Amino acid sequence: MASRNALIFASLAIVTLGSAAACQQSSLSGPRSIDRRTYGETSNGEAVDLYTMGNANGVEVQITNYGGIVVSISAPDRSGASADIVLGHDAIEGYEKDSPYFGAIVGRYGNRIANGQFTLDGATHRLARNNGQNHLHGGLKGFDKAVWQMSEREDPNGLAVELRYRSKDGEEGYPGNVDATVTYTLTEQNELRIDYAATTDKPTVVNLTNHSYFNLAGHAQEDILGHELMIDADRFTPVDEGLIPTGELRPVDGTPFDFRTPTPIGARINEKDQQLAFGTGYDHNYVLNGKAGSLRLVAQVREPRSGRVLEVLTTEPGVQFYSGNFLDGTIRGKGAKAYGPRAGFCLETQHFPDSPNKPTFPTTLLRPGQQYWTTTVYRFSTDRSS
Ligand code: GLA
Repeated sequence: MASRNALIFASLAIVTLGSAAACQQSSLSGPRSIDRRTYGETSNGEAVDLYTMGNANGVEVQITNYGGIVVSISAPDRSGASADIVLGHDAIEGYEKDSPYFGAIVGRYGNRIANGQFTLDGATHRLARNNGQNHLHGGLKGFDKAVWQMSEREDPNGLAVELRYRSKDGEEGYPGNVDATVTYTLTEQNELRIDYAATTDKPTVVNLTNHSYFNLAGHAQEDILGHELMIDADRFTPVDEGLIPTGELRPVDGTPFDFRTPTPIGARINEKDQQLAFGTGYDHNYVLNGKAGSLRLVAQVREPRSGRVLEVLTTEPGVQFYSGNFLDGTIRGKGAKAYGPRAGFCLETQHFPDSPNKPTFPTTLLRPGQQYWTTTVYRFSTDRSS
């Protein structure tokens, strides 16, 4: 153990030294490290930065203020070897041109709103229709394409990067100015904790999430079909052909959607099932067990070869399990890797899709004077961790 830690410290020191020239500020030394450097420029000429945070256990996370994107997460496998376990691009251009929300903060409303409209206090609001006739992930220019203000914070739990964005009244059709704050904290427990907060000056809807694509074997490995997944949900929200929930909360019992005991993602993905056909695989919202509003363990994923384990905790009532069905090898990501079908999976913690049009679903309404907040934790370990 001692020699493994020494190795990890040595490699962190190299990372920190290597970045010293480009480093604009550095607030901590020792095993934890944080540095900020220029990442690049958007096509509009806006400068964007990249924070690199490392903890004492060799976990390293990079965040940019373009879309609040988690650019990389490096975590050790069961023998201590690190790999970057999220899909993405090497540079800002890739994220701007060719990104199915890799690593991004999604808002103002993550997931779909049917026919791109909803009615609130008697007024109908028409949103951008960017997914057939439906609205998806905040519209044409959602929170994932915004340049956020970014600063670092030392938090009792670990190192933190705080992102702020004002979404203007009328943006993508939504009413009200929304002030959103998203804080990423890397803890010494090997957790990436994401705290979302928002306020508004007019009644509106808010549903924020993060769209990281994980491959626990390493981003450049093949598909995630061998990953063993557990989702603590007795029910899911079946959808129509346009992936809009029908309103039913359907038991997972006896269906390929039952992940209550760990099951390889690929075990049933090709079964003849109408819901799998609509999603071209898994692209569904699960109704999480336990009390929404309290932070609880809702999902766990283990990759058998590397032994890496991801646990997901959230205060949210739902999670979208997306098995990377639309990846088809045309996107070349980090290191020119062509991301093929099911190269990564997403566990997007959230309120249910189309809630603004589904009065029986937990509400996503935010009124002036109310505070929106949710927390999600991605915790990394291995199957050798005690
Ligand atoms: C979400 C959606 C999917 C797809 C991906 C991005 O997971 O539910 O249908 O849009 O984002 O490709």
